[in-house]
Amino acid sequence: MYVPVALVTIATRFWVMHMRKCLIAGNWKLNGDHALCDQFASTVFPTDSSFDIVICPPATLLQSMQQLIKKHSSCLRLGGQDVSVESQGAFTGEISAKMLHEAGAQYGIIGHSERRAYFAETNEKVAIKMAQLLAANVSPIVCVGESRAARDQQQTLAVIEAQLSPIKAVLQQQALSCSQIVIGYEPLWAVGSDQPASPEQAQQVHQFIRESMADVPDAEALRIIYGGSVTADNSAALLAMPDIDGALVGGAALNIDSFLGLLPVV
Ligand code: 13P
Repeated sequence: MYVPVALVTIATRFWVMHMRKCLIAGNWKLNGDHALCDQFASTVFPTDSSFDIVICPPATLLQSMQQLIKKHSSCLRLGGQDVSVESQGAFTGEISAKMLHEAGAQYGIIGHSERRAYFAETNEKVAIKMAQLLAANVSPIVCVGESRAARDQQQTLAVIEAQLSPIKAVLQQQALSCSQIVIGYEPLWAVGSDQPASPEQAQQVHQFIRESMADVPDAEALRIIYGGSVTADNSAALLAMPDIDGALVGGAALNIDSFLGLLPVV
């Protein structure tokens, strides 16, 4: 069949090059309200098949966002920003993986650098959270990343390996597949700093992560997404890298125009 070159879109090329479906996730952190949910859910995004778009609002907005997505037949998927290590019981303020699933979340961010820094989230806790999410049929977006000091001391890959180690152990012990998880590489110095990693810096770590995960079942299906000051100005160059399978976006996901601007072109 003849396909005019002009119709071979950038998004399609991404798919062919990467063999993994691109994932663009917006992490709203402690921001957003019902009006922002309505604005995102009522927007017609350029595609619903060549890449996945996930929005992670605060937990209190998940259910209303889910209803708005249904109302507007939106292609958006939903994610939580964290999950409890516990599945139920006397743990005031916690939200379980099953609760996230019931609220409509298909993804759950865990191990974000802000939770590691401000809420004592250890590598081991992140691995337990991953197991909780997988048991509830929610795909974990496991965040890893090094500090500026670690990078300056050439410790980047050692930090990433230490963060991945308990994750790999759980996946291997429980014979779980890489196709169910996403790794988010977010260098701390790039988060909220307007100083994104260069495509080459990010690619180097993504490639390391892929090699490190090679022993886990379905390693070739593992999606590794980059986060840290992603905007319309830098997303195309980052997404063009062979081991960058998408983006995890903070600030630029709080505004519909800036978010639309960074999506792969269709
Ligand atoms: P920024 O895009 O604001 O740098 O945030 C990235 C992030 O932390 C997403 O989880």
